Amino acid sequence: MADPITPVLTKRWLSPNSWTIQSYEALEGYTAIRKALKGTPEQIVQLVKDSGLRGRGGAGFPAGIKWSFMPPNKGGGSGGQGGGFKTDKPHYLVINADEGEPGTCKDIPLMMADPHSLIEGCIIASYAMRSHHCFIYVRGEALHCIRRLNAAVREAYEAGYLGPNILDSGFGLDITVHAGAGAYICGEETALLDSLEGRRGQPRLKPPFPAAAGLYAAPTTVNNVETIASAPYIINGGSDWFRQMGREKSPGPKIYSISGHVEKPGQYECPLGTTLRELLDMAGGMKDGVPLKFWTPGGSSTPMFTKEHLDVPLDFEGAAEAGSMLGTTAVQVFNETVSVPWAVMKWTQFYEHESCGKCTPCREGTYWLAQILERMVEGKGTEEDIDTLLDVCDNILGRSFCALGDGAVSPIQSGIKYFRDEFLALCELNNGRANKRELLVGAQA
Ligand SMILES: Cc1cc2nc3c(=O)[nH]c(=O)nc-3n(C[C@H](O)[C@H](O)[C@H](O)COP(=O)(O)O)c2cc1C
Ligand code: SF4
Repeated sequence: MADPITPVLTKRWLSPNSWTIQSYEALEGYTAIRKALKGTPEQIVQLVKDSGLRGRGGAGFPAGIKWSFMPPNKGGGSGGQGGGFKTDKPHYLVINADEGEPGTCKDIPLMMADPHSLIEGCIIASYAMRSHHCFIYVRGEALHCIRRLNAAVREAYEAGYLGPNILDSGFGLDITVHAGAGAYICGEETALLDSLEGRRGQPRLKPPFPAAAGLYAAPTTVNNVETIASAPYIINGGSDWFRQMGREKSPGPKIYSISGHVEKPGQYECPLGTTLRELLDMAGGMKDGVPLKFWTPGGSSTPMFTKEHLDVPLDFEGAAEAGSMLGTTAVQVFNETVSVPWAVMKWTQFYEHESCGKCTPCREGTYWLAQILERMVEGKGTEEDIDTLLDVCDNILGRSFCALGDGAVSPIQSGIKYFRDEFLALCELNNGRANKRELLVGAQA
């Protein structure tokens, strides 16, 4: 088992009416902003840098460094991505609450159970980046979550935590909850900004980076829900306390969402670096004892692992060293009954559907990948199709406009790497030498 830690991000989740401002205040809520608003924005940015907090939206970029890219409102640049220019434009903080990566279910539960921790984090981060308007871009299908956030924002205004002069500090902030329109690509930060501006969500060319020209061409920082919800705890606990959890380069607690063939799927908060073996212990083990076959460490965009990887530390470095990525810590667990080619086909159909069409390798490539996989799963594939799949993947990886294309090839390349025999066996169907029911058992094909 992992060292048991006192829950941090999830500590209020099981309290009665945990989403109300009364429950939040009774459990240390809104104490961090009182401290933060007494310091300077620079001190907060430094504290978050010292804590080592890394973005929880997938890429793991250090949050404090990202915040420091925002230029000062007046005067010269900060020297970072957004530096080197003068601007009097408003600054914006945008919260990425799109949560579209298959298997990921941590941000919506966090916002449902403890929306005020996100709001308090928004106040701290906005103050640190001199922003007076924060947008929370929520996945459009999550209507229940949008309602809950709107209610919490109303409560925060009524209590004086939002508005023109928060707790008589002279600092003001407005929060707007915005419903997205249900496209996976709108989770990519620049597509999200286009969507927020009312346009079709497609990734923007970078540079300029959002810190230089983001929402309405003004300096903007986009952060994930879990990243920003971590800020109040860092203010209250300090950077050394935060660094006691997790690993040196990936410190802090993390919410792992575990789904699939486990006894107790759900959200498990653990220090970064926890292994699948430990997570499975917490989740009650494999469902009905049927053995593990493959799993994703961070959603379908991260190359799959097998039972050989049970002891890989699931932090940014550990997952990468073992040949995958931490992604969103969406741990999807599949048992022996599941056909790998079938699962890979399903994921590929998702990417084909969600490809925004802006660039050719991804638009055309995901279409061809899905066609080939569908043919193989139908039992009409040939051995040559495996090489064609890998060839098309090579032409997408690193050649696409945004990371959706790279993510689309992960299941295919890793699936063939670890389970080539299964793809080959499907090709045998074409020769009448195998039985489809046996090959696709459990696949519900
Ligand atoms: C196709 C695609 C979908 C994404 N979806 C999300 C998402 O739903 N939520 C999220 O926080 N980040 C998502 N990201 C990552 C964002 O572009 C961005 O890196 C992140 O919001 C930055 O926040 P962080 O630094 O706090 O991690 C996605 C990226 C891509 C390429
Ligand atoms: S990689 Fe795919 S999703 Fe990204 S810009 Fe190109 S077509 Fe659009």
